[in-house]
Amino acid sequence: KKDAFQTDVLVVGSGPMGATTALALATYGVRVQVVNRYNWTANTPRAHITNQRAMEVLRDLGLEDEARRRATPWEWMGDTLFTTSLAGPEIARLRTWGTGDERIGDYLQASPCPMLDLPQNKMEPMLVTHAAARGAVFSFNTEYLGHEQDADGVTVSLRDVPSGREYAVRSRYLVGADGARSKVMDDAGLELRGQLARAATAYVLFRADLSRYAAHRPSILYWIATSNAAFGEIGLGLLRAIEPWDQWIAGWGFDMEKGEPDFSPGEILKKVRILVGDPDLEIEIDNASVWYVNQAHAPVYSKGRVFCGGDAVHRHPPSSGLGSNTCMQDAFNLAWKLAFVLRGHAGTGLLDSYSLERATVGAQIVARANQSRLDYGPLNQCFREAGAEDPVAAGLARLAAPDAEGVARRAALAEALRLKNYEFNAQGVELNQRYASAAIIAEPDAGEETWRRDPQLHAQASTRPGAKLPHAWLVGSDGRRVSTLDVVGRGKFTLLTGLAGQAWKEAAAAMDLPFLRTVVIGEPGALDSYCTWHALREIEESGALLVRPDGIVAWRRHSGEGLDAAGAGVVLEAALA
Ligand code: FDA
Repeated sequence: KKDAFQTDVLVVGSGPMGATTALALATYGVRVQVVNRYNWTANTPRAHITNQRAMEVLRDLGLEDEARRRATPWEWMGDTLFTTSLAGPEIARLRTWGTGDERIGDYLQASPCPMLDLPQNKMEPMLVTHAAARGAVFSFNTEYLGHEQDADGVTVSLRDVPSGREYAVRSRYLVGADGARSKVMDDAGLELRGQLARAATAYVLFRADLSRYAAHRPSILYWIATSNAAFGEIGLGLLRAIEPWDQWIAGWGFDMEKGEPDFSPGEILKKVRILVGDPDLEIEIDNASVWYVNQAHAPVYSKGRVFCGGDAVHRHPPSSGLGSNTCMQDAFNLAWKLAFVLRGHAGTGLLDSYSLERATVGAQIVARANQSRLDYGPLNQCFREAGAEDPVAAGLARLAAPDAEGVARRAALAEALRLKNYEFNAQGVELNQRYASAAIIAEPDAGEETWRRDPQLHAQASTRPGAKLPHAWLVGSDGRRVSTLDVVGRGKFTLLTGLAGQAWKEAAAAMDLPFLRTVVIGEPGALDSYCTWHALREIEESGALLVRPDGIVAWRRHSGEGLDAAGAGVVLEAALA
């Protein structure tokens, strides 16, 4: 009985996972309630790199323009610097996040969206505000205590934090978006594999106008090689621009065996002055904290009516910038499935595909982010001399030497920098996700996908079932460019065909399904004026793609030749079943 449920989906957590889930569900018209034990959203910047796939999620949900307004723009993200201090001699630079001359075209071709730098304390309020405006209910100061599920729903125990009052909410589904110490996950009995806290980093948020060191070589990451901030796997200090150029994070690895670092104002100032290279610098300290490097993932994300996502199920360091991006994509994968099942458009079996599709991605990104830390090793070797009194000064002297060893070190530096593309220009890691589940109708004879270039570095456009619909610019009804991604999504399935695919169009019209739209590329509103779609579609013009609400190709048929509307209807019905 519907009345027995106070909400259809209860979400624990309003971080990137919870807030995106709520935003998407509210957009699709689903009743959703979010609880967060704190009074508001993230109080520090945390994750910030926002990749093209996460931006596509925001574009579909109508928030791309606002994200662009709030963020540090793409062109300021790019000149990642390796230097002895901000004021001191530079060692090397890498054009990053696709901004380099040799990569920018790849990035522009693969997505209508830019990358952005949008710290979590700007992203979360945006997601939450719009979710609430679209009808999501937010209960802050509300702690999740436990849950019990039965055949019809989940009874969730909550506590109002200010009063201590405990009460229960009845929901049809529960989403555990409660982060890296997820209690929902533990309570649901989901397994986590891997290692927690295998290394540690100090993070200090401070204010100081550093524009004289940064504005002429804009970047969001400045890596500092100094013997005073050299502990750990990365072996470099970090200055990260939060609000260019007067709000920053200083980060450095510390030895966990010796306990937490000394965060007294005097010690912090000493450290920041070393990283900046200015002995007279004055700073305003906002916050100091530590975080631990995890390498763990859950092989299964759901149990019955409980679905976990985000850091609850994949725990990894910030290297590669995959944190909030992956959370938002988990949410985007899950939300439309919950909406379809709740509306009766799909059977509950659809929900099983969430874990199958996203757990594979989670395992990949946990491995990638941790490998990206290890990949600083070769770089460090180029400008460090183990055993010397000042290892960095001695190493840098060798790196600059005109002798054969200097030549060899400089060659090694080029190679070590090249390796860092797997962290900083890894468009393939971000866009080449391929799903396999019962919600994807694989082509029986398709065989394995052949990767034309390195699949970690390069995105590969494909209309194979399980891949994201390729982006191509079309011409829309008002003469402006629209992406292929803009004519699909927004909570519906899309049947995509060409002018020669009229049989599909007629068959879909006859089916008259509220969740299915048909788009004919070549008709007004979706003109392939640049012929880019023609080059990317991998099917004949009379063929068809069925694209899911999350922009993933669910099924394709290479040709519709010989099919009349009745025949096409039979094929389509099978695809939608
Ligand atoms: P997230 O942890 O963001 O949110 C969990 C939510 O659940 C919160 O709203 C919390 O209050 C709530 N919650 C938890 N338990 C609850 C309970 N019992 N009852 C009610 N509510 C509960 N990543 C990255 O890619 N780059 C980076 O630079 C950084 N930097 C960084 C710095 C620091 C200091 C931290 C702590 C983390 C990072 N991260 C990061 C990681 C990044 O922040 C992380 O990947 C995402 O925030 C995870 O998003 P989730 O939504 O999964 O959880």
